[in-house]
Amino acid sequence: MDQMLTVEHVDKSFPASHGPAAMLRSFVHGMPRRQVLFDVSLSVGRGELFGLLGPNGAGKSTLLKLLSTLIVPDAGRLTIDGIDVISDPYEAKRRIGLCTSDERSFYFRLTARQNLEFFGALVGLHGAGLRRRIEECVALVDLTEHLDSRFGGYSSGMRVRLTVARALMADPQILFFDEPTRAVDPVHAEDLRALIRERLVGEAGKTVVLATNLLEEAWQLCDRVAVVNRGRIVAIGPPRELDVDMHAIARYRVSLDQVDEALLARTRNVPGFRDLRVEHTPRGVDVQIEMDQLDGTLGALMRAVSANGSVLRDFRLLEPEPVDVFKKMTNDRDD
Ligand SMILES: Nc1ncnc2c1ncn2[C@@H]1O[C@H](COP(=O)(O)OP(=O)(O)O)[C@@H](O)[C@H]1O
Ligand SMILES: [Mg+2]
Repeated sequence: MDQMLTVEHVDKSFPASHGPAAMLRSFVHGMPRRQVLFDVSLSVGRGELFGLLGPNGAGKSTLLKLLSTLIVPDAGRLTIDGIDVISDPYEAKRRIGLCTSDERSFYFRLTARQNLEFFGALVGLHGAGLRRRIEECVALVDLTEHLDSRFGGYSSGMRVRLTVARALMADPQILFFDEPTRAVDPVHAEDLRALIRERLVGEAGKTVVLATNLLEEAWQLCDRVAVVNRGRIVAIGPPRELDVDMHAIARYRVSLDQVDEALLARTRNVPGFRDLRVEHTPRGVDVQIEMDQLDGTLGALMRAVSANGSVLRDFRLLEPEPVDVFKKMTNDRDD
């Protein structure tokens, strides 16, 4: 496939602490650093919708900042449209639009049009060209009727769409979205996903890299997903090929009148046991248990919690949570 973007063996660290004391110490010992990305490699094809999926702190935003030329890596290489991002940041930047849901960067007292005139001027547009580009961009995000309203009166959904219009002003080939649906309600989040999928990738042929911590969003939207955890890519591929791990971890909730150490010890000994949490309720005790889905584990768990003493009141399988998928994938790596 024709590559639009490549990341090869990228490491990134930040100073572990800052302030005058750390600065002074650094003269003697050197500045301590904390690594947040480890040997990250991936590539994104032209016209692809690529997801970076991971929990908070995984390193998604750091990777998008590296790709947007806002920071530089300690090691490794990044290219956009064949251009080396480190040696030629200006050429790379011309091909990139970054959408963060940072609404503070807009002028609240100005209208959407005036805001876009300002940001358009920053990327070298003016006169009739600028006016035409504004019309095109707001049409793509369905804000034409609200173009002359003040930004301060915009709803959260409209605000995010205006950040998309702003990113489109310089007509970049590739768009980066950093948790685009974080600050919007579910209905507008759905509209925004449709906009990214159908208009930007489908109609306008853009390449999109989208960072998210929502499993459903990545699964529903993306052609391929890289699962990022603690600075490492732990899995990469089309969602349907990754979802074998979706139900790899089962969570059960067992309600009992009481628990004793013997019962908990038996539970911990069940093959595939991962973790348990005991919670006292007005009616007794709930034990939440995480298990690998192996043959025979369910029966062994049932026996462990129903043997002598305690009265079993309820036993149910809980819905898998996105974080389980990350856990499973990281553990597999560490094994
Ligand atoms: N400028 C910075 N200085 C120091 N640490 C940083 C900086 N930016 C990010 N980090 C750290 O790097 C890690 C990854 O952060 P980030 O890329 O923002 O994760 P994500 O976007 O996946 O939530 C976090 O532990 C964060 O605290
Ligand atoms: Mg982030």
